[in-house]
Amino acid sequence: MEKSLGKKNIAVFISGRGSNLKSLIKYSNKKRSLFKVVLVISNNLNAKGLLIANKLKIKNHCIEYSNKKNFENQVLKLTKKYKIDLICLAGFMKILSSKFIRKFSKPIINIHPSLLPKYKGLNTHSRAIKNQDKYSGATVHIVNEKLDSGKIIIQEKVKILKKDKEKTLEKKILKIEHKIYPKAITKLLSNY
Ligand code: GRF
Repeated sequence: MEKSLGKKNIAVFISGRGSNLKSLIKYSNKKRSLFKVVLVISNNLNAKGLLIANKLKIKNHCIEYSNKKNFENQVLKLTKKYKIDLICLAGFMKILSSKFIRKFSKPIINIHPSLLPKYKGLNTHSRAIKNQDKYSGATVHIVNEKLDSGKIIIQEKVKILKKDKEKTLEKKILKIEHKIYPKAITKLLSNY
């Protein structure tokens, strides 16, 4: 990434609800933000996040995923067209190939609802509750070719209360996610 005075262009990849997308757009509209969300990519036409992108007037593309290679080639073209400096995965339910990661050649980061390296993959909240963990949380990390395994940028924890169910824990953690994702991007961009 080149150092410049302008804001960096980020692309957010989604598959569903898009609450992190919304919070990133909201943050990026602040004057002090080091980045702006210029592109949203979804693999799912029914992703609610696409409605958010449209409402907030962010360019968005839904790309058919049945052929991974095709999907990734189209995405690479778009990242060039929009001069993307950083890709942020936010509830994107597909795994990017190592070829894609290499070809994009700039950072790709992800937000995950657990205290990594604990609970990679799905159903993180129910696993934490089932194991009677005292804490859970959220992690923003660099994406590499292994699932939920790259270098951690920021992590924040939250107490799991006895009365917590999957839904209540999810709500608490989402609140943390919305706070730490912009923070992690800012931290990453400040180091370039
Ligand atoms: C979040 O919990 C994120 O950590 C995980 O998927 C969920 C996406 O939520 N990777 P949203 O679409 O941003 O609301």
